[in-house]
Amino acid sequence: MSDDGVNVGRRRFLTAATSVVGAAGAVGVAVPFVASWNPSAKAKAAGAPVKYNISKLEPGQMVTVEWRGKPVYVVRRTQETLDNLAKVAPLLRDPESTESNQPPYVNPENRAIKPQTLVLVGLCTHLGCAPMFRPEVGAADLGGSEWLGGFFCPCHGSKYDMAGRVFKGVPAPTNLDVPPYSYESDEVIVIGVDQEGAA
Ligand code: FES
Repeated sequence: MSDDGVNVGRRRFLTAATSVVGAAGAVGVAVPFVASWNPSAKAKAAGAPVKYNISKLEPGQMVTVEWRGKPVYVVRRTQETLDNLAKVAPLLRDPESTESNQPPYVNPENRAIKPQTLVLVGLCTHLGCAPMFRPEVGAADLGGSEWLGGFFCPCHGSKYDMAGRVFKGVPAPTNLDVPPYSYESDEVIVIGVDQEGAA
């Protein structure tokens, strides 16, 4: 009785599995057709550019925007934050970004096209965890008075400043990457499209 029950169950399972394969097969046939009349679907799959309106950001605030499956951090920096970038430089491994990845049109020290708005790939350059935004100056768990705000990776303790520049003595080898991006207008950035006329 119970054997029969199992067998019936297995037959049902096999029937169901066959139906699923059939359905998947039908989708597989349909995809090239759909792609042929809807190229934007194909472009999206490849990682289309993403727009973000930075006027929504308050001073000191960060948002995460997804681009090509990666988190991209967009931070509106205050003047105080920008002034602190030079102060923290002696503690950094690559303060002028000579060994790090960023487009040639960003400033190598503040790492942005326009200083107030920082755009970074939010993946630690050690093993790819997402660093946490820790803007609090003087945070006791991150070095106290030496900490002038930045990003902290919880996986193995790498620290980055408010330009995504890596500190000395942590596992991450380079600064956080800056993705290609551009300004469509004063308020809208386009992640994934290079700044026109850039060097
Ligand atoms: S992945 Fe960030 S410190 Fe290791």
